[in-house]
Amino acid sequence: MSVPQSSADVAVVGLGRVGLPLALSFADRGLRVIGVDNDPRRLEAVGEGRMPFEETGAQDVLDRVHAAERLSLTSAVADAARARQIVITLGTPSFSNIEIDMRDIRSALDDLLGVLEEGHSLILRSTIAPGTTEFVAGYLNKHRGFQIGEEVFVAHAPERIAAGRFLAEIDTLPCIIGGVGARSGEIAAELFGVFQAPIVQTTPVQAELAKIWANILRYTNFALPNLLMMDCERTGANVFEVIDLINRDYPRGGIAQPGLTAGTCLRKDFTFSEERSAAPGMLLAVSRVNESVPLFLVEGLKRRLGSLADRRVAVLGLAFKADTDDERDSLAHKLIRLLERELADVTVHDPQVATPTAPLQEALAGADAVVVAANHSDFRDPRTLAAIAELAGPSCLVVDPWDCWGAAQVFGYAGELVQLAAGAEPAPAQEGPPR
Ligand SMILES: NC(=O)c1ccc[n+]([C@@H]2O[C@H](COP(=O)([O-])OP(=O)(O)OC[C@H]3O[C@@H](n4cnc5c(N)ncnc54)[C@H](O)[C@@H]3O)[C@@H](O)[C@H]2O)c1
Repeated sequence: MSVPQSSADVAVVGLGRVGLPLALSFADRGLRVIGVDNDPRRLEAVGEGRMPFEETGAQDVLDRVHAAERLSLTSAVADAARARQIVITLGTPSFSNIEIDMRDIRSALDDLLGVLEEGHSLILRSTIAPGTTEFVAGYLNKHRGFQIGEEVFVAHAPERIAAGRFLAEIDTLPCIIGGVGARSGEIAAELFGVFQAPIVQTTPVQAELAKIWANILRYTNFALPNLLMMDCERTGANVFEVIDLINRDYPRGGIAQPGLTAGTCLRKDFTFSEERSAAPGMLLAVSRVNESVPLFLVEGLKRRLGSLADRRVAVLGLAFKADTDDERDSLAHKLIRLLERELADVTVHDPQVATPTAPLQEALAGADAVVVAANHSDFRDPRTLAAIAELAGPSCLVVDPWDCWGAAQVFGYAGELVQLAAGAEPAPAQEGPPR
């Protein structure tokens, strides 16, 4: 086996939320890294030493890597072949047909086809549908005749780190590797061995299934309390009290809390199983539950306030989850669209995201209702609830599926919530439609 003439140790194709922290982490371990991305603004930001998004601790690593000049940048995927190990961290959305959209991966493969040589290793870090690693191996064999696992190496090493925890988890989370043929897994392990995390070798399809089913488990786990929240509203029960009854000192409890469950991974990874499921529709139903939470909240507002036309509604949080600046696939956007379709006057505040939003005081002033769409730490601070009660008034309807302040009400009035949160007796019922 010949080894390609390498001017770098590893190339990372796709410098997104996964690829950029990974490329920086490789470089920080002393590897010479080629970073590939077709977004000129992304390349410009990284080239100037600026993190284009929030990832805890990543700016410090970028500063070090920049100073050491261990990361070179390019927009040409074919340049990745200057490194022996090529890691693909491109996006893998799903089509609305409930099917993986592999166009970015196909496009990168086509760019690499002509320049791959014996000795190259292609590692798929993206989340992919079962069978995709074998497809990639078959594609290289079909078009170039390489014996995969002997001449050229193909493996899946799924990214399992949660946004915001990359640097904390890269050295601890077991790194699953599923290699094709005799030696692909071993070659990929040589690369990921620069991190401290244990490496677990398996087959490609088991690596693919382990990744997507970890996310399916989470997505389903959150759908259950969300469905329970809707059942509780119908039956006049308090979801937080029911959850406490389920979990309290019960060894087989463990139901999660409700919330707006979304994000790029959870919203689409289930489709990679659903596209050829033995129980078609089962996971779609899970998705429908999570997707209907914004509508449930809007309907709950209407039941209590009547028409939302011309009512001021403040939405706190645009990000898809707490303490991230990532808005992709956030259900807050869907919530806002639904509120606007009710002709409500919507103001939005989120201190984390890049999208400009109103200051907190401005968003809350005179609001008829406040919906907590993301449970950022700032919002969980009791001072935020106090600000709502002060600026929007005690009779402002607050929608908090996260139970940010321990008041244990999905729908409650600000004055009442302040007292409940303080552990005091609830205030007399506010004026308004029956709850
Ligand atoms: N974001 C997460 O927290 C997370 C966690 C685990 C797994 N994943 C998976 O990792 C993969 C990447 O996710 P992400 O969030 O980093 O995506 P992303 O959209 O943030 O990053 C993809 C990057 O690839 C670039 N790109 C697109 N097409 C290209 C091409 N043809 N050539 C070069 N560059 C190209 C884009 O400009 C972008 O910077 C996905 O499969 C995702 O499901 C993501």
